[in-house]
Amino acid sequence: MLVLGIESTCDETACAVVRDGHTILSNVISSQIDLHAAFGGVVPELACRRHIDVIIPVIHQALQEAKVPLSAIDLFAVSQGPGLIGALLIGINATKALSLALKKPFVGVNHIEAHLYASIMSLASNEMPFPCLGVVLSGGHTSFLYMQSPSEYQEVAHTVDDAIGEAFDKVAKILGLSYPGGPLIEALAKNGDPTAYKFKAGRVKENPLYFSFSGLKTAVLYATQNRALTELDKFNLSAAFQEAAFDDVIQKILIASKQFHCDRIVFGGGVTNNQYLRQKIQRETPKLHCFWPPSGLSLDNAAMIAGLGYHHYLSRGSDSITLEAFTQL
Ligand code: KG4
Ligand code: ZN
Repeated sequence: MLVLGIESTCDETACAVVRDGHTILSNVISSQIDLHAAFGGVVPELACRRHIDVIIPVIHQALQEAKVPLSAIDLFAVSQGPGLIGALLIGINATKALSLALKKPFVGVNHIEAHLYASIMSLASNEMPFPCLGVVLSGGHTSFLYMQSPSEYQEVAHTVDDAIGEAFDKVAKILGLSYPGGPLIEALAKNGDPTAYKFKAGRVKENPLYFSFSGLKTAVLYATQNRALTELDKFNLSAAFQEAAFDDVIQKILIASKQFHCDRIVFGGGVTNNQYLRQKIQRETPKLHCFWPPSGLSLDNAAMIAGLGYHHYLSRGSDSITLEAFTQL
């Protein structure tokens, strides 16, 4: 079954063609980083306008690279949410139009579930690591899910304020870096001393597995006030912030894995691109079996949408034309 997936939740317009939920024939991503860099974050209205400009060329390119005509597509899949409402509507309406015009089914896919599916989509069905703990570390979300299958799970924890990627982006802005800040902080941190500042992520008393990163971000802000930052200061602030954020994630993964008797951890979301995080987890939790998204599938993409869409269609059939976007998980 050939599935064409469309992704437009935030600041990437993406389209991919995937066979049978696992073989990626094309994976085209049009990033809007240039558009939002000057603002230090995504400007929703600008994002929507860019999605409208590029969505049809991106679909054409994905078909061309996959070397399949539009008429050969069996199923359309689209990111239904969570995301920016205007951005989601563009992908969803394009998908509905394709489905109606070609008289082919379509399904809506949860973007968060798809981020996790990205890490396991290349595995054979008997290698799937369920039940497992899903760890989503992205620009919009920080959550733990206890998963029985790619789309059956209970949420175990989420952030009560900033998402971890959002904290990276805000700290980058404080340090005068551009957007997205995650990769820039990771690069600066390589030259810094993680113990130079005593930063700590927040604790949520009533829910010890929940996350809070806004206090950590504010601590970095206070540490930069009333002084001119040298290069070394920026290295050390980046390293200490990154260390505190990841120490918090790792400590909570260890607690959750004990609580759920589960040593298989499936990671998803843009922050999992961070190589220091991967090495630190390998070093500090050698007993856990970790599944990471392959390169090209950790940031927002449509291959993960098409891949998971295939399974949704097999289990529950086509969605209706009244399908609506959702902005929260
Ligand atoms: O998953 P994603 O592409 O978009 C959302 O669904 O949110 O994640 C984007 C986020 C941004 O906040 C970006 O700064 C962060 O992922 N990110 C990183 C790295 N690469 C991207 N954060 C830390 N280290 C990185 N290397
Ligand atoms: Zn995402």
